Amino acid sequence: MLVQISDFGVPALLTGSVKTMSVRSRDLPRRSCLSIPGSSEKMINKGAGLPADMVFLDLEDAVAPKEKESSRPRVAEAIRALDWGDKVLCVRVNDWSTKWTAYDIIEVVGNAGPRLDEIMLPKVESAAQIVATDMLLRQVEIASGLPIGHIGIEAQIETARGLINVEEICAASPRLETIIFGPADFAASMEMPVLTGGVQIPDYPGDHFHYVFNKILMAGRANGLQVIDGPYLYIRDTDGFRDYCKRTRTLGYDGKWALHPDQVTVLNEVFSPTQEQFDRAWAILDAYAHATEGEGKGAVMFGDEMIDEASRKMALKFISRGERAGLQRSSN
Ligand code: GLV
Ligand code: MG
Repeated sequence: MLVQISDFGVPALLTGSVKTMSVRSRDLPRRSCLSIPGSSEKMINKGAGLPADMVFLDLEDAVAPKEKESSRPRVAEAIRALDWGDKVLCVRVNDWSTKWTAYDIIEVVGNAGPRLDEIMLPKVESAAQIVATDMLLRQVEIASGLPIGHIGIEAQIETARGLINVEEICAASPRLETIIFGPADFAASMEMPVLTGGVQIPDYPGDHFHYVFNKILMAGRANGLQVIDGPYLYIRDTDGFRDYCKRTRTLGYDGKWALHPDQVTVLNEVFSPTQEQFDRAWAILDAYAHATEGEGKGAVMFGDEMIDEASRKMALKFISRGERAGLQRSSN
């Protein structure tokens, strides 16, 4: 049955905070986040079978204004009908400055069924926009029979105002699963003299987004969110893409967007630890456990290096990422 706006009308259900969260997708890997226009049935069908960790069906900038409303039922039907494997499955709705946001959420979340994990909200500028989305989701979940808190939120930071408010945005709802940098819209918002989003600017001696990457990363980590880098628009430049991915990977980001299947392959590799790193992380844990539990020491030599409690924490991060990427410890 299609959910209509008139289905809402029980004031007692409209208040209260979310107790359970979108549990399925919260900790799933998002090394590769594939963007698929919600207006293209062909690309949606193809995308379902690609090895991306996360897929989002776009109703925002990849869809022309006159196609937006007709794309909603296509997207909801594709979520219900296709086999998406265990990918994180998301729909990007339009931002709150448009006339579409609420109706995107009502029609898509209301009709997509339980396989939809989350929605992505672009151009987030304030915590209030996240709270409004959270409250609307709650109503739609109730009206369509989904568990309350089933749908998570991914928030895009892509304006100057959004970056200023990123800390309160990241803390605005327990539904938040990721915070994402949108370099193309951000460059426009900052009036940077660039015409291609998400690529290096050779004239600038350094990384013109370094501060932005770090500010978003800190806000996300402080609130337990996954942190994702946005698109790289030279989609045929695989070497340039690989090189660019290493920036946010090195800072600590969990993954990045893909606009093309070839980018998915690169991302799954770049955002996974190597087998050597994974094995080394395990060896550090073993050596540290032996030192602290067996010998009662807090710091111990591991090869040429001194390791301590902080080394254990770093190693654990490699192990959880490696396990999410399907790595297993080598037998030696
Ligand atoms: C993504 O939405 C971007 O604007 O870069
Ligand atoms: Mg954008």
